[in-house]
Amino acid sequence: MTRLTQDYSGPSLPAGSAEGMPQEALARHDAFMTRKAPSLESDWMQVDIYKAHIEEMGPAMLTRMHELTMSVFWPHRAPDIALCIGLGKGYVALDEIGRPLSSAMGFPSDEDFAMLGMMVTTPRLQAQGTGGRLLRRLINDLKGRDLRLSATREGYRLYEAAGFTPVGLVYQHQGMARAIHPPEPVAGVTVRPMRPDDLPAIAALDRHAYGAARTAILTALNEVSEVIVAERGGEIEGFAMMRTFGKGRVIGPLIAEQDGVAMQLAAHFILACEGEFLRLDTIVESERFEAFVSAAGLGVYDTVTDMRFGRLRRAKSGPMTYGLAMQSLG
Ligand SMILES: CC(C)(COP(=O)(O)OP(=O)(O)OC[C@H]1O[C@@H](n2cnc3c(N)ncnc32)[C@H](O)[C@@H]1OP(=O)(O)O)[C@@H](O)C(=O)NCCC(=O)NCCS
Repeated sequence: MTRLTQDYSGPSLPAGSAEGMPQEALARHDAFMTRKAPSLESDWMQVDIYKAHIEEMGPAMLTRMHELTMSVFWPHRAPDIALCIGLGKGYVALDEIGRPLSSAMGFPSDEDFAMLGMMVTTPRLQAQGTGGRLLRRLINDLKGRDLRLSATREGYRLYEAAGFTPVGLVYQHQGMARAIHPPEPVAGVTVRPMRPDDLPAIAALDRHAYGAARTAILTALNEVSEVIVAERGGEIEGFAMMRTFGKGRVIGPLIAEQDGVAMQLAAHFILACEGEFLRLDTIVESERFEAFVSAAGLGVYDTVTDMRFGRLRRAKSGPMTYGLAMQSLG
């Protein structure tokens, strides 16, 4: 294959990860990374009539990022964006007078994994190659890591072109929480507030479900969330966090090994928030859990696609992700 840029030398995934990827996806990735485009090193790009400058994401970008996400009707409040900026790395393209045109972020965890998110191009400039350009740069920065993202319908084509393959659907449940009959508790399982000494057990459950140790992310979420655990015989077998987010509150991460425990954890927060706006993004295909959440007023509002480039790391058995922290964070 002819290399169109000097600075790309083939997909760099952790050892063994490429073997699990379809050949066509790897070929698409190569083609995407070598598209005829300015060098990945260049900080400039032409977008329509604008000469855009690519800058690194950082706290100074907060107001611009909030403006950009509002332009695509994302519900994030400024503190939600600030949380992401504090946890990831990425880029923003600005026009000559500092208006944000496009953004892309990565959230690395462990040595060999990163979640991608906060990818937005202002509506009037979409489909002109800007998102792709920032994504190429980000992927290049995250060499040696398996990648995952939650793809919206608008983003799917871009990520597929970049070599990502679908893993499953994320169901975005949301609505005004209403009174429910709490589910029958699972035998021997009690739900209680988290204690500081529960943290290692919580981190271990999350690591299994998420597929990487996201220590910094969990620590930051813990600081802004109410956290509960499901305990059986002195062992922690599930946990859930809830924090203020977007139009109300979000339940997530919610990690449990079975529907009953996940429902018990979710019910605790739902009952405490009757009449308030609640959101829960789930990746587990469970009719029972989804019916329970929907009956509590949180119907399916939308779906996005969980996509990977590299190894499938998300747990499909044992402790699983019944609630995402946020689509961008997984
Ligand atoms: C997803 C998004 C960031 C892509 O940014 P972009 O600057 O338009 O990306 P590009 O111009 O590089 O386009 C990439 C591909 O997506 C296609 N595309 C772009 N906007 C699209 C849209 N609104 N609907 C369908 N396809 C679209 C382009 O045609 C292009 O495909 P091609 O390379 O085969 O021609 C942008 O559409 C967006 O901000 N959408 C709203 C927010 C969102 O959903 N973000 C994604 C979160 S995962």
